[in-house]
Amino acid sequence: MTAKRGAILIVDDEEVIRRLLHQKLSSEGYRCQEAGNAEQALEKLKGGAIELVILDIKMPGKSGTELLPEIKVKYPDTAVIMATAIADASIAIGCMKEGAYDYVTKPFNLDEVSLSVNRALEKRRLELENRDYQQHLEQKVEEQANKIRASFFNAITALAYALEAKDVYTSGHSQRVTEVSVAIAKELGLPKESLEKIRLTGLVHDIGKIGVRESVLNKPGSLTEEEYEHIKLHSETGEHILNPIVEDEEILKAVRHHHERYDGQGYPDGLKGEQIPQLARIIAVADTFDAMTSERPYRKAMSKEVACAEVERCRGTQFDPEAADAFLEVWKLASKTA
Ligand SMILES: [Fe+2]
Repeated sequence: MTAKRGAILIVDDEEVIRRLLHQKLSSEGYRCQEAGNAEQALEKLKGGAIELVILDIKMPGKSGTELLPEIKVKYPDTAVIMATAIADASIAIGCMKEGAYDYVTKPFNLDEVSLSVNRALEKRRLELENRDYQQHLEQKVEEQANKIRASFFNAITALAYALEAKDVYTSGHSQRVTEVSVAIAKELGLPKESLEKIRLTGLVHDIGKIGVRESVLNKPGSLTEEEYEHIKLHSETGEHILNPIVEDEEILKAVRHHHERYDGQGYPDGLKGEQIPQLARIIAVADTFDAMTSERPYRKAMSKEVACAEVERCRGTQFDPEAADAFLEVWKLASKTA
């Protein structure tokens, strides 16, 4: 007993021919069905699970050449072998351009038919396997990329926590700066990738403060000039700390330049206007706003309204006017819904 091999539909208007093929292919273990015309063939195909069709070209009603494209559209995974009289071989060859796998000529050499069926089914199996593999591979790559993205984000978050553990007064600062920066970026209509970058930058923009002496970082009073110079190093230190784990140049530069001022009076490089990376210009607004509205041991928190007026006053000097306007717009909308 031969093992079950594949489901074949034999489409021919001549019953004798259908029987002949049916007998031969069944004896080889194929599961065969028959259809005497195109309509019957479509009906059988609808039942599903047909892997291969042997399709007679000349049939009363809809011909095999007319049925072929319909099968290819509706059942693209079904292999088709055209059956034709020798005189019509050129038509059969044309059918192969339309997606038929092969053609066999009448009168049939049954062994040849069997060989062609075997080859067509093998080719179909390989194609399906290959497609499955590709789809599986794409899914695997996607999953892997998501895992890498997540662990990168976790590493960044851990760094932000490390800073917060050291700098008690800025606890929650990075998170708030992130939220406000993302809102500004959205208001400016920045693309999704930029939002992702600004989210990461917000979390770690002050990471360089890990390198600042605790006595300076948590000093309950105003800073000496030396202490202020020391604290100013944090933006460069931040870039240096992140360099081994962050490949994205935009994020590194946003961290380095988040204390630049639009008028060129900031640090570390005194960049001016559009020389300052846009992400840094956005972070600068959110960062300053949050600093102004947070309680410090040496001063009270400014009210949000006063801080907003300050952002407006410094638009074009300290802040990029576009980023400042977007911030004010976000603020206006937020206070309306509050
Ligand atoms: Fe900072």
